[in-house]
Amino acid sequence: MSDTPPDTAADAPKGELTLRTLAMPRDVNTNGDIFGGWVLSQMDMAAGIVASARARGRVATVAIDAMQFIRPVKVGDVLCIYVEIARIGRTSMGLQIEAWVLRRGQSGREKVTTGLFTFVAIDENGRPRPVPAA
Ligand SMILES: CC(C)(COP(=O)(O)OP(=O)(O)OC[C@H]1O[C@@H](n2cnc3c(N)ncnc32)[C@H](O)[C@@H]1OP(=O)(O)O)[C@@H](O)C(=O)NCCC(=O)NCCS
Repeated sequence: MSDTPPDTAADAPKGELTLRTLAMPRDVNTNGDIFGGWVLSQMDMAAGIVASARARGRVATVAIDAMQFIRPVKVGDVLCIYVEIARIGRTSMGLQIEAWVLRRGQSGREKVTTGLFTFVAIDENGRPRPVPAA
């Protein structure tokens, strides 16, 4: 049996669940909420996992666009990062990332942050290389 509550079609996360982690007290800002930068770094990590698998090798983040911090993340929330490859270019890839939380002691999940991450496939010298055919 799954430990994740069912979603309706309208509010279901889009993409592949790539990373799950726990929001800890060390990551709070002065409001007592979790730093946006911590959430962003988890999204970058998840996007990098998918981009690297698709590119079959090294990748680098070249741009982060359209970041939307929709709801705060709280200590004790389980952060779930979903990744969808939205675009494959010659050497670059666009990945649509959604961060959702399972709130401590509550059922259901909430979308907290979204963003579009662009990664470039790079060679051993850090120069762009073509993304291989799927
Ligand atoms: C990634 C990097 C190797 C790209 O080198 P570059 O000389 O800019 O390469 P190019 O101009 O040939 O662009 C490569 C691809 O990235 C895309 N790209 C470059 N800048 C972009 C931007 N700001 N937004 C979206 N796409 C971008 C280009 O359109 C191109 O895509 P395509 O081949 O699919 O058409 C270089 O910018 C770099 O090393 N950046 C630092 C990466 C890094 O350290 N990331 C971690 C941040 S701490």
